[in-house]
Parts: sequence; structure tokens; C-alpha cells
Amino acid sequence: MDGQGHGAEGGEIALAFAARVAAAPDPALGRAVAGVVGHLHAMIAGMRLTPGALHAAIGFLTEVGHATDSRRQEWVLLADVLGVSTLVEDLSSTRPPGATPNTVAGPFYRADVPECPNGADISRDGRGEPVEVRGRIVDCAGRPVGGAMVEVWQANGDGVYENQEPDLQPEFNLRGRLRAAEDGTFGLRTVRPRGYPLPADGPVGQLLARLGCRLERPAHIHFRVTAPGFQRLTTHIFDRDDPAIGNDALFGVRPALLGEFRPQPAGGYLLEVGFVLAPEEAAGG
Ligand SMILES: [Fe+2]
Repeated sequence: MDGQGHGAEGGEIALAFAARVAAAPDPALGRAVAGVVGHLHAMIAGMRLTPGALHAAIGFLTEVGHATDSRRQEWVLLADVLGVSTLVEDLSSTRPPGATPNTVAGPFYRADVPECPNGADISRDGRGEPVEVRGRIVDCAGRPVGGAMVEVWQANGDGVYENQEPDLQPEFNLRGRLRAAEDGTFGLRTVRPRGYPLPADGPVGQLLARLGCRLERPAHIHFRVTAPGFQRLTTHIFDRDDPAIGNDALFGVRPALLGEFRPQPAGGYLLEVGFVLAPEEAAGG
């Protein structure tokens, strides 16, 4: 049962807490919080946490809160760099083998991007090495999924997202929302993204630096694909030739998500992507 994961020490208080919330008006919330408290007490007992360490932890979490605002989500960054976001995603996945893996959306997703035509150029400032993306969306049997909504977002050739420098990049630069054709294909024009370091100026970046961890992400393009009857897919396609491909700070790289930016005779690159959607009925609670 949830809430019973405490060790010998610290267990009594956790049990008393669990008893206190046993009659919570929202039983699921009561079980969840009691479970967290049980594990927290066991961890504290196991680590012999000192008052000084607790004080430091509270100070760190306070800084994470202060660093978060409407443009920056330091809490999401913390969950991401600890691998928590990816673990939760993996544990929640009910995707059959062969379906494209889900990954975290990351802190730079925007839901308010206006729709553009299939085939549109999403580079609104024309800066960077041109890339043609050709995509195909199928189900697990390989049949085309027509009419899916495809959202795409990426950093520019300097590794910077539009909402990180709103004074320098046009609104919605390198972001698109388009509808795939009935044969499951879609296309867009963009520029080659560069990898980027995670924000190092906040408490999460400073913690990782003190831990000697690398903060880099290999170059990638984010995609979200939504179609009736299928689980929503949120994923990345990574540049397989990026030297940082084996060191993604967010643990998102999977073999199925490696893409190749193929140089074209007339200049620029072609990136072909394929997404396999999982049926909705396989979705868990
Ligand atoms: Fe990203």
C-alpha cells in the first residue's frame, strides 16, 4: 500500500500522519500525501538528515520558487534534470512496442501558437541554415493517420528559443501548428537547430554545476502530434550527428528519436521524420 514505505526509524510519525489523513474528504489525495510522507520520512531516517541540511534544502526549494514566473518554470527544469519527468513518463506509458516514444515537453512549449498551412516556413526571421522537414504519421499497423494536428517548436541556430529572447526574435519564431494531410504526411520549412545548455543562472543550474554535471542538450526539434482515437504524442527528434548526443541533460534521447539532417545538392538539409501513434484504448488511467 502507499504510505507504508518507511523504515524502522521515523516510521511512527509517518504512520500517525497517515492515520490523521485516513478520513480525508478526497481519499486519493490522502493516500498520495501519506505515501509521499512515508517515503520522505524513510529517506530522512536513512540519510540521517541534519537540521542544517534541512535548512539548506528549504533554502534551495525557496530559490526554485523565486526563479519561477510566467516565462520561466524552474520547477519543471528541476524535475527534468533529476530524470523525474522522464521516469514518470516511462512509468505512465502504455505504448505498444513500435509506437514512437513519448518524451517530456520541456520548459519551452507554448500552447498559443497560431495555425499555419501544411508546408509553411516557421522561420519568421529567415536566420539560419534552411531545413525541409518531411513527416509521416501512421498507426501501429503502418496505416496512415490523416488530419493529425502537428505542433513543432525548436531553438534557432544559436540554440535559443524565441521566448528566451523576446526582444531579439519575432513572436512565435520557429514554432508551428499545422494539420497533416489525409495521407498522414506533413511538411514544413525551418532552420537547423543548435543544441543548448540548460539555464545556468538559476538555482537548478547552479546545483548541477556544483555537482559537476553537464548542462547541455543535443540539438533537437520538438513535436506534438494529436489525432482523434490516438494517444497524444509529445516527442523530440534529435540530431544524431550532434557531439552531445550521448549526454542529454534531460535523459530524452532514444534510438527511435534520432534524425539525420541530410545535406541537399541545392543547399540546406532534408530531415525526414516518422511518427507511430499508439491507440487511445491502450491509455492508462
Ligand atoms: Fe528543447
